[in-house]
Amino acid sequence: MNVEELNKQFQESKAEDVIAYFLKEYGQEAALSSSLGAEDQVLTDMIFKNDKSSNIFTLDTGRLHPETYNVMDETNLKYNVKLNVFFPKNEMIEKLYETQGVNGHFESIDNRKNCCGIRKMEPLKRALKPLKVWFTGLRAAQSVTRTDMPIVEFDENFDVIKVNPLINWREEDVWEYINDNNVPYNKLHKQGYPSIGCAPCTRPVKAGEDIRSGRWWWENPEHKECGLHAK
Ligand code: ADX
Ligand code: SF4
Repeated sequence: MNVEELNKQFQESKAEDVIAYFLKEYGQEAALSSSLGAEDQVLTDMIFKNDKSSNIFTLDTGRLHPETYNVMDETNLKYNVKLNVFFPKNEMIEKLYETQGVNGHFESIDNRKNCCGIRKMEPLKRALKPLKVWFTGLRAAQSVTRTDMPIVEFDENFDVIKVNPLINWREEDVWEYINDNNVPYNKLHKQGYPSIGCAPCTRPVKAGEDIRSGRWWWENPEHKECGLHAK
């Protein structure tokens, strides 16, 4: 696989065509990691319209909002599927609680990274292990840490081809697709949450504020990746 050539080939392609190419080439060895946010719901709709048996998984950190579980349920019902779920390891969560309590992630960046490591990174590693292709809902406009991301890249941290079919989409494009296709979405998006992660680490943003400013709002923008998409 030549990443540069694929990027050139897909520069003008529709997201559906990028998805179709990788699903056809890699089948069950390609999967979407879904946070159940708006971008991932667009991809979920495109993927299930292509093939109902496709692999879509979510990382249930144990600290998600009730609204996120509702959209998971609505999605399963609408497409008549069951999204795959990866949970953190119980012994690691018990140890985390012993060492930093319930909300220790607010106390230092190390504690926060420790929590993200146990609740997201370890389950993500397990989920990606059997895969060759990882679809994500990343968009360049979401953050200073994402502006240079391509459509296709090789992720050395997880040893997979990472495919970001919506990398060039604007927020308006996402909502147009959701409305036109009647896609279930997290109701928190209509309450000032453009980006939704774990409940304790996400807050609403005001009009005009940066999309991801409500995520880990107490940290600097350059550090605001939990490790899933870090370089
Ligand atoms: S995060 O790294 O800051 O949490 P963000 O919420 O912007 O990421 O989502 C970017 C992409 O990361 C999503 O499109 C999705 O592919 C993946 N992702 C984030 N959170 C999860 C989750 N809980 N489960 C599965 N995938 C996730
Ligand atoms: Fe823990 Fe917050 Fe990271 Fe969720 S986002 S895993 S609660 S530190």
